Amino acid sequence: KRPAGAPDKALARPVNKVGVIGAGLMATQFATLFVRRLKVPVVITDLDQARVDSGVAAVRRELEKLHEKGRIDGDEYGRLTGLVHGTTDRSQFADCDWVIEAVFEELGVKQQVFSDFEKIVGPEAILATNTSSLSVAQIGAQLEHPERLVGFHFFNPVAQMPLIEVVRTQSTDDATLATAMATAKNLKKTAVITRDAPGFVVNRVLAKVLGEAMNAVDTGTSFETVDHALDRIGLPMTPFELLELVGLKVGAHVLDTHHAAFPDRFFESENLHRLADYGKLYDRDGKGKKKGFDKKAVQIV
Ligand code: 3HC
Repeated sequence: KRPAGAPDKALARPVNKVGVIGAGLMATQFATLFVRRLKVPVVITDLDQARVDSGVAAVRRELEKLHEKGRIDGDEYGRLTGLVHGTTDRSQFADCDWVIEAVFEELGVKQQVFSDFEKIVGPEAILATNTSSLSVAQIGAQLEHPERLVGFHFFNPVAQMPLIEVVRTQSTDDATLATAMATAKNLKKTAVITRDAPGFVVNRVLAKVLGEAMNAVDTGTSFETVDHALDRIGLPMTPFELLELVGLKVGAHVLDTHHAAFPDRFFESENLHRLADYGKLYDRDGKGKKKGFDKKAVQIV
């Protein structure tokens, strides 16, 4: 069944080389997915060689884990590893048909990235943004061809989360949308087409849940009580585990964006910003298993 609002599949363009801008947590997770599922060359770039190298190393580690778990055999592992490479030379993006960014969540930074890369790629290349909650239309406001920009929003952990929000702006054309839908399918994900509204669909709901949980702490309930209470209603993770998973800085940014868009419906939280600067909420053992709330984190509030 064709998802609501999906254009004719026949308009989709082939994706034979993928460009990933940014080499952080989300970018390296979806770079791994692109190479694993599309089996095409994936080139990764970032501001400097050190970031590029650590991004490529992260993708290799993920591929290695897949190999160890028996999900890909030795030949496949070798082949996929050979398809991934990093560079600070942006001209290597010239023949990418699909360029996706997950750089810092700041409008000006993303606008600049796309203005720069639009000049490098060919006229048929699709530009995609993994923004969590910025307006895709605004990100593309300075593009010469905003019709080829689309939101392509993954969820963390990318390998496990089945959904991609495909965000259509007023300008996104049918060929771009069809390519995004086909790409999501080839990545073996479920795609929904959402409006270009703050938080799209999922983050708007999550921001509500996480914002309420944080506000409960801000107004005097302990972290432990909120975590314990919500764990018991059967969520896969407690709100604070989820905040730490998506990243405290990203979480704070998402809440701010929602508060700015809908001040009467979403809380802002100074404490969350302080926690984001501190960097963690839980103490964990060497294997990443949660031992309890970090004492300093709890004192910040
Ligand atoms: N990173 C990567 N992979 C992880 C992980 C993590 N932090 N935590 C667990 N996994 C993997 C495990 O390695 C395992 O993989 P495998 O099947 O290949 O071995 C798989 O997930 C299942 O792990 P477990 O059995 O240990 O754990 P669970 O059954 O509890 O599942 C979970 C873990 C899938 C992360 C589950 O807790 C969950 O669904 N949590 C909710 C996540 C969620 O809501 N994400 C959306 C966040 S919002 C977002 O990203 C948008 C952004 O814009 C802010």
